[in-house]
Amino acid sequence: MDHFQFKHDQLFAEEVSVASIAKEYGTPLYIYSRATLERHWHAFDDAVGQHPHLICYAVKANSNLGVLSVLAKLGSGFDIVSGGELARVIEAGGDPAKVVFSGVAKKPDEIRYALEQGIMCFNVESEPELQRINKVAESMGKTAPISLRINPDVDAGTHPYISTGLKANKFGIPRERAVAAYKLAHSLPHLEVVGMDCHIGSQLTQVKPFVDALDRLLLLVDELAELGIKICHLDVGGGLGVRYMHETPPHPKEYAAAMAERMAGREELKLILEPGRAIAANAGILVTQVEFVKEGDEKHFAIVDAAMNDLIRPSLYAAWQEIIRVDQQITAVKRLYDVVGPVCETGDFLGKDRELAVAEGDYLAVRSAGAYGFVMASNYNSRCRPAEVMVDGANVHLVREREKQKELWKGEYKLT
Ligand code: LLP
Repeated sequence: MDHFQFKHDQLFAEEVSVASIAKEYGTPLYIYSRATLERHWHAFDDAVGQHPHLICYAVKANSNLGVLSVLAKLGSGFDIVSGGELARVIEAGGDPAKVVFSGVAKKPDEIRYALEQGIMCFNVESEPELQRINKVAESMGKTAPISLRINPDVDAGTHPYISTGLKANKFGIPRERAVAAYKLAHSLPHLEVVGMDCHIGSQLTQVKPFVDALDRLLLLVDELAELGIKICHLDVGGGLGVRYMHETPPHPKEYAAAMAERMAGREELKLILEPGRAIAANAGILVTQVEFVKEGDEKHFAIVDAAMNDLIRPSLYAAWQEIIRVDQQITAVKRLYDVVGPVCETGDFLGKDRELAVAEGDYLAVRSAGAYGFVMASNYNSRCRPAEVMVDGANVHLVREREKQKELWKGEYKLT
């Protein structure tokens, strides 16, 4: 459940009308709801129950400082994939000691920065990365806490671009090489083996692949224990899906409880979850205004002021996200529209064949835009990226200003 609901004919974000926010801050505009973010985070945290655990929100889903600060105040941990994400977490008030660092190609500088900040652990994705981290730690006279990302080879049954747990993917260390890789890690003097992790994909709509992956990792934990290599935490990654259209993903409670259940009797093994989308997606909307309604021979177009550069998921993954009127008082005739943006590409659309009644000047909201929305925005067509606001009860906080034109060529030089 989220806090974007209709009151009479008007869409509200918590206690504030979306139209009034759009009028004040302009469009395109991302609007987030603090209560929704908090609710989703607690859903995970509560469901794990008494088993020692940490929810490490996947920063890549939405890295706005406003969002990160709300989660940091709840005591959240963070899953990061770059030095830039770590800097954001720290700036937002997050605790580096609750940070896990994932990603296939960590640069020596990023490793050094993370060690300086005292992160909880590096999720290592290859043998050469072990050597690199060991070398950087040695140069600093430190020991780096590491976990190995094991590729459990389970089919997550999701979009091929966001499926990560198969042998054919670039991520993680294959199960067959896992023991040898752990032995190597154990032998390197500046590494301390603390954990094991996996991440099998994103937007999963069933619990089974998660449980299968966890079972495979537990077997490996036991195998390593016999070799004298102790694993202190098991990180099962992120990936729980949300409802965009007709999907029926398990509730975070069901998912987290299934994971915690598998860990019963292993209280010495801390459980780490890295949800991104399930926390942020339905805590945000993208509001856009209709510029023109264009009636064609074969198609009708609602041309809006948001484009693929603002929200790329529909163009990139053919992802379907619900598009609704902000004001349900309908005067125009309902028709099937392609909702398209101003960018000069045929692939620039937010939705196709949507039944809508629209007129010039109307506001539309693209739902479930809080995750992988603004973070994937670009300046294509020299468009300024949208503003972002966070609603908290009856208050609206600007959490990122609309980009200004001259910021677009900052750091560029003309020739004389
Ligand atoms: N942990 C790791 C190591 C990951 O790679 C990811 C996401 C997550 C956690 C969080 O997964 P989530 O809970 O959000 O599913 N841009 C795509 C999604 C890419 C996900 C990449 N990895 C989209 O818009 O659908």
